[in-house]
Amino acid sequence: MTRSDSDALLPMQGTNVVVTGASSGIGRSIAIDLAAAGAARVLVHYRTNKTGARETADIVQSAGADALCLSADFGQDDDIDRFAQEAFQRLGHVDAWVNNAGVDVLTGDAAQWSFQQKLERLLRVEVVGTARLSRHVVDRWQKQAGDTPPSLTFISWDQAIEGMEMDAGQMFGPVKAAVRAFANSLAQQVAPTIRVNTVAPGWIRTSWGDSTSEYWDRRAREQSLMQRWGTPQDVADAVRYLATARHTFVTGQTINVNGGFSRRFE
Ligand SMILES: NC(=O)c1ccc[n+]([C@@H]2O[C@H](COP(=O)([O-])OP(=O)(O)OC[C@H]3O[C@@H](n4cnc5c(N)ncnc54)[C@H](OP(=O)(O)O)[C@@H]3O)[C@@H](O)[C@H]2O)c1
Repeated sequence: MTRSDSDALLPMQGTNVVVTGASSGIGRSIAIDLAAAGAARVLVHYRTNKTGARETADIVQSAGADALCLSADFGQDDDIDRFAQEAFQRLGHVDAWVNNAGVDVLTGDAAQWSFQQKLERLLRVEVVGTARLSRHVVDRWQKQAGDTPPSLTFISWDQAIEGMEMDAGQMFGPVKAAVRAFANSLAQQVAPTIRVNTVAPGWIRTSWGDSTSEYWDRRAREQSLMQRWGTPQDVADAVRYLATARHTFVTGQTINVNGGFSRRFE
């Protein structure tokens, strides 16, 4: 697909972007959305799902952007270091980076792990790994020339701070609260050269939502004032807002994408 002159008005026109965890779910939607918003090149990160990453890349390309797929396990320090280096080498200049990758401990083999195994894996990948990766990204950005502050966006969870009952609350709460706290501190450190923000999704329909019980399906709908599940596109809309160079006055912020949390659920 070729782009027309009117595309010059697109919010991400001509930018290079990296989306981690873009082989499925929310990350895939973000990558495709940024391409549709005018990005020139999109780096599609994945860990093991190469087929999914290729599918994302194909859609990114049909939206008019170049796509590159690159894998890394953010539970491994050397893989994180290599990924950061290769991402910048291959894209040259990076305008927006989205830390979306997250460990799935709810479906597949990991669903059988103990609470402690799940918590340790989540903390290792999403807190320690994401922090290490982000510090590489800002180091490189501090040496990158450009008039517009690049944008780094993290993905947290809307209930992380207030908490939620059961194992899921005790795992995702501390992990996603730490992600948000790290992002806020980084925003303080790197402004005004770099913008750092967080998107905190509520109940978003991805693979877990598709296979969940009737109880959770009802709860997801009823805990949103808008009375529906969120979609990956709802999250992508917020990420695009934060990633757009037009929004240079927005940093250190968290946007909840949950349709307004409803306290009326019984
Ligand atoms: N869905 C929701 O309701 C919801 C709500 C709040 C927050 N979130 C957050 O939104 C993000 C995306 O969620 P999703 O539902 O779209 O998940 P998903 O479909 O399971 O996608 C997760 C992505 O993260 C990658 N990943 C997993 N482990 C990794 C590791 N060790 N190193 C590097 N990458 C790894 C996966 O790669 P491979 O599959 O290629 O291995 C995949 O691309 C996550 O941070 C999640 O916590 C989701």
